[in-house]
Amino acid sequence: MLMKSSQTDTLQRALFPAGFLWGVATSSYQIEGAHNQDGRGPSVWDTFCAQPGRIADGTNGDRACDHYNRLDEDLDLIASLGVNAYRFSVSWSRVQPDGRGRWNEAGFEFYARLLEGLAKRGIEAHATLNHWDLPQALQDRGGWANQLTSDAFLRYAQEFHRRFAQQLHSLCTHNEPWVIAVLGHEEGVFAPGLRSRSLAMEVAHNLLVSHGRVLKSLRESGTSVPLGIVLNLSPIYPASDSEADVHKARIDDGLIARWYLDALFKGQYPHDVLEHLGDDAPAFSEADMALIRQPLDFIGVNYYTRNFASTGNPWDVHSTGNEVTDMGWEVYPPGLTELLCRMHRDYPLPRTLVTENGAAYKDVVVNGQIDDAARASYIRDHIEATLRAREAGVPVDGYFAWSLLDNFEWASGCSKRFGIVHVDFDTLKRTPKRSALWYRDFLKA
Ligand code: FCB
Repeated sequence: MLMKSSQTDTLQRALFPAGFLWGVATSSYQIEGAHNQDGRGPSVWDTFCAQPGRIADGTNGDRACDHYNRLDEDLDLIASLGVNAYRFSVSWSRVQPDGRGRWNEAGFEFYARLLEGLAKRGIEAHATLNHWDLPQALQDRGGWANQLTSDAFLRYAQEFHRRFAQQLHSLCTHNEPWVIAVLGHEEGVFAPGLRSRSLAMEVAHNLLVSHGRVLKSLRESGTSVPLGIVLNLSPIYPASDSEADVHKARIDDGLIARWYLDALFKGQYPHDVLEHLGDDAPAFSEADMALIRQPLDFIGVNYYTRNFASTGNPWDVHSTGNEVTDMGWEVYPPGLTELLCRMHRDYPLPRTLVTENGAAYKDVVVNGQIDDAARASYIRDHIEATLRAREAGVPVDGYFAWSLLDNFEWASGCSKRFGIVHVDFDTLKRTPKRSALWYRDFLKA
C-alpha cells in the first residue's frame, strides 16, 4: 500500500488547535498481566478466560504485555511517540481485590507510579474506572445486576478520586456499557458469558445509574477533574431499502446508540426501543433517569467501522469493495465524520474525544521491522475524518489511537493485533511499527 509521507501530506497537526489531545489508549486487563502479583484479586475476565472454548486462541490476560512489570519502559515508549495524552484503565480488583472492603495498597502504588511517570514526562492522564474487568467477588453476588455492585463502584470511584484527583486530567466511569451489557449478558461472548436479554438491559440501566451516581457524588465533593463516559458508536445503515431493513437499522441504532445518548443527555429512554424490548425492558424510575442525566464534562467515542442492519441474509462486509481489517471490519473513515456530526446535531455535546480508533492487521516482522502501511493509513484517514467533523462545528477535541501495544484482544485472545507497537508475546519485546513512526512524525511536524 502506498502512503503519503508526513512531509508531503496536506493533513498536518497544525490544522488542529494547540490544546487538541493526541494520545494512545490501552486497558488494564489487556496489557497489565501480573494477574496474581502483589495481591490482585480475580476479575470476571480471569474467570471467563479459564472456561474452555471462550477465547479463540486459548490465551488469557495472566501475562498479556506484562505492562505491570515494564511500566517505565512503556512510559518511555509512550513519550517517544510525542503524544500529549494517555488513556488507560484501572484494574478494580488490583486496588480492591474483592471489589468491597479492604483496599490493596500495592495496587494503588502501581497507579501512583503510572501517574507520576506520566506527569514527569509531561503527558496528560485520562483514566477509566471500568474497562470491563469487574472483580469476580462482585460477579459472584450478581455483578452489575445487583445494586451492591453499584454501591461498591461508587466507593471505588470515590477512593480512586480521593487519592489521585490532583494527577488526573479526566476520569471516565465506564468504557462501552453496551459491550458489557449485550456482549457480556445477552450474547455471552464476553465475560461474564451470560445469555439473557432482560438481564442485559437491566445491566445496561444499572451501569448508567452507577455512572450518574459517581458523577453526582464527585461533583458534590467539589472535584475539578473533568468527568465523563465512553461509548462505542457507529452509523448503522439498512442493508436494503426494504421497510423491514430500515426499521431494523433504526432499532439497532436505538439499542446501541440512542439508549445511552438519550439517557445521558435527555434523561429518558427512546420510546421505540422500550416498545421493541417489551417485557425485556428494565424497570426504572424518574429518579434513576434524573441521576443518569448528569452534566458531562466530556464524552468519549470509540469508533472502528460502520454497520449494516439486515433482516434477510447477513450483510456481506466485502460487498462495498472497501478494505476489511483482520477483525472483519470494513475500513470506513467517513463514518466517523458522519457519526460525530450526527451526535452534534442530536445532542448538546460537551467536549468530545475520539477515545479509541484503530485496526487489527496480520503484521509480519521482516528484519525486525513491521511495515504496517495499512494501519498507518487507517489512522491517518480517521484523523482526517476527525478534522472534517471539527470543521463542521463538532466540539471534537482529542484523538486516541487504539492501541499503544498489541495486547490481549478479549475473546480473540492474542491473535488480533491492534498495536501501533508490536509485542513479541514470547520475549515481550516492543517494536514500534511503521504506524507508530508515522504517528510520531505527524505529531512532530
Ligand atoms: C473496543 C474496546 C477495546 C478494544 C477495541 C478493539 O471495543 O474498548 O478494549 O478491544 O474494541
